[in-house]
Amino acid sequence: MQHRAEKVVIVMVGLPARGKSFLARKVCRYLRWLGQDARIFNVGNYRRERIGQHKPASFFDPNNSEGTQARQKVAMEALEDALRWLKGDGQVAIYDATNSTHERRRLIEEHCHRDGLQVLFIESICYDAAIVENNIRETKLLSPDYAGVGMDEALVDFAQRIAHYAAAYEPLEDANQSFVKVIDGGRQVVVNRVDGPLRARVVALLMNTRLTRRTLWLTRHGESLYNQQGRLGGDSDLSPRGEDYARALAVQFAVPPVGLAVWTSTLRRSMQTGAALGLPATEWRVLDEIDAGTCDGMTYQEMARRMPDVYASRKADKFRFRFPQGESYLDVIHRVEPLVLEIERQTTPTLLIGHQAVLRTLYAYLVGDPVERCPHVSLPLHTLIELTPNAYGCDERRLPLTRPVDERHSMLPGAIVPD
Ligand code: F6P
Repeated sequence: MQHRAEKVVIVMVGLPARGKSFLARKVCRYLRWLGQDARIFNVGNYRRERIGQHKPASFFDPNNSEGTQARQKVAMEALEDALRWLKGDGQVAIYDATNSTHERRRLIEEHCHRDGLQVLFIESICYDAAIVENNIRETKLLSPDYAGVGMDEALVDFAQRIAHYAAAYEPLEDANQSFVKVIDGGRQVVVNRVDGPLRARVVALLMNTRLTRRTLWLTRHGESLYNQQGRLGGDSDLSPRGEDYARALAVQFAVPPVGLAVWTSTLRRSMQTGAALGLPATEWRVLDEIDAGTCDGMTYQEMARRMPDVYASRKADKFRFRFPQGESYLDVIHRVEPLVLEIERQTTPTLLIGHQAVLRTLYAYLVGDPVERCPHVSLPLHTLIELTPNAYGCDERRLPLTRPVDERHSMLPGAIVPD
């Protein structure tokens, strides 16, 4: 995304335990993956740092003028920090707080407009008590606010805190404001006056985000004939070792999790690996490997000999380097973006059988790694990566299903090692 001029403040709105921070982190991770400089300014963290963590529910009572003033002060400090950061290189500040009254939101807007910034409100509303309860148990009771406090006591205190906020809560309703309301974790999404390419993307993400947790498995295809020769790209078949891996993968999924979706690319090595499972698979063109352009079919050694300048620029900046008439990692990110939204929309477990470069870009998104480092992340052949979402990101397990393939040794004699 190259919309450098669009500077935005995303303002979260909602009662405590409505999943605001979950959405804020998701939006932040997505925008960073798209190359934006995005950062979260969490007012709760400012409060804990500056006022202390163990504040009883009465501190949040709107009739407690001392508490109200102290909270207002830290909220404005966080906002000023966000605005200062945006005056520099910052692109998108995500201001994470309850921001639960018209007055507070008008004040925020005034400050942002004074600095020429766009504002997008994201309100999270939960009518479903089960979602709120789950949020409380999974995140709030583990927060530093309740460190050392017994579960029952914490639950009572937190319910009181929510009641105080609820007493003063005013939902977004100003038709002139730019906002998205996410209701019950995305069952319903209401969009009002959202403009600009960056904000439109945020809306697309929110419309596709589901709360259901499901495991995602990533694997490269089994070793191909080109892998054996250290050649880039192509559309070769699996090698005998690659077929072994496909069989091992089939054994791993012999009793598939309910509703398992299998996704492959449209290249033979990926489809052949998927076919071994004997399950219906969806072929995605966007999952095809990075296009090596005029270098397709070469080894790295041949590339270094025949195209030394091209080889050198790849070495200098592997992330932005674009193969002549082919793609860069950055291009791949933009290509796979629709698939990321599709992954977010999935509510059933999914197995993605892809390729080294394309999976590196998806992996960076899923685990929240800095995207520029993705071309250097190790995703070995014949290893199944299991990603299980948790409240803050995901847990990862790597399962080498057959003997590892040493891709360095599989290169032609004297080959130059890829990085
Ligand atoms: O070597 C296998 C492969 O999938 C190639 O087709 C592709 O060009 C390469 O990996 C991507 O990895 P890297 O960017 O590290 O060369």
